[in-house]
Amino acid sequence: MIVPVILSGGSGTRLWPMSKPEMPKQLLPLTADDTMLQLTAKRAQGDRYAAPIVVAGARHASLVEDQLTVAGAPPQSLILEPMARNTAPAIALAALAARPEDALLVMPSDHVIADVDAFHRAIDAALPLVANGWLVTFGITPDSPETGYGWIQVGDAIGTGVHKVARFVEKPRRERAEAMLASGDHVWNGGIFLFRADMYLQALAQHAPEMLVSAEKAMGSALREGTRIHPNAEAFATCPSDSIDYAVMEKAERVAVVPVTMGWNDVGSWDALHAISDLDGFGNAHRGEVIAVDTKDCLIRTDRVRVAAIGVSDLIVVASGDDILILPRGRSQEVKRLLEAMKR
Ligand code: GDD
Ligand code: MG
Repeated sequence: MIVPVILSGGSGTRLWPMSKPEMPKQLLPLTADDTMLQLTAKRAQGDRYAAPIVVAGARHASLVEDQLTVAGAPPQSLILEPMARNTAPAIALAALAARPEDALLVMPSDHVIADVDAFHRAIDAALPLVANGWLVTFGITPDSPETGYGWIQVGDAIGTGVHKVARFVEKPRRERAEAMLASGDHVWNGGIFLFRADMYLQALAQHAPEMLVSAEKAMGSALREGTRIHPNAEAFATCPSDSIDYAVMEKAERVAVVPVTMGWNDVGSWDALHAISDLDGFGNAHRGEVIAVDTKDCLIRTDRVRVAAIGVSDLIVVASGDDILILPRGRSQEVKRLLEAMKR
């Protein structure tokens, strides 16, 4: 059986004002009527999948549970982190809650995958290697010199559609990203992984032993209520904070990549959301109670107040609760700056 492991830890700042600490991106219906968490769970449903193990921040417990129940994918375990320690420890908690032989399909809860069939074919390609103890990652065909992603150099083929990882390059500088894009043998690290639970724990024992010890202690003395698991906070607090990419994948030996083109997007900004939305005949992606006359190439979204616009183009307008964000398209990466200014 494949056990989906859904990571729901993002605090969501770049999609402010809809995404907020109490309601991060993955819990919002950004691209469809379903939330991104629900879409993620539904992507891994069916005969070969067990109920998911979900790792989330404690404050989001009820929201996560409710959304997954509605999606028909109530978790077998909902692990509630007492504090964030990045992805390597979060996945360690999940691996400790699973059976050693389970194949864990680790998925961030806040990505879009337009071509789910291609995703499933990539999983098919990975499974034989997973059974042989390999740690597998999925490599997205790149179309721009992204500096915010990890890149993977694709090495020799070791199976149908599966390659050795020649090298990981996490968050490169611009020139390096451009060179990798031009090379034709690099892909983006999609942040989606498939491996046996015991193989991940073995890699941790080898490359991040302190992390494994803290996670084991935290799970060993966890508080359990039904499917909810509260790892021991004192023990988990001693856990070093690191991503799976740095702590494990870059260092482990038997690491493979399955290159895949599947309409993947991590929806990291309002511009990215506009780019992947179904547009009306004038290039607009509106949602909520929006009255737009003679508008062009805009994204206007609202969850409560009515928004009316006339004669504008290339604008992003997002109204959520008591907040309204307005900016020209192309500058949504700068939303972070606004949040910093608000803190001051
Ligand atoms: N439960 C839990 N706890 N989830 C977490 C935590 C945590 O402490 N930290 C991060 N996550 C979740 C996030 O919510 C997100 O869905 C996913 O794990 C990845 O974390 P990010 O913080 O968004 O990572 P990143 O964007 O810097 O980089 C990773 O993803 C890129 C693709 O989106 C890397 O894997 C890159 O190599 C990759 O290209
Ligand atoms: Mg990310």
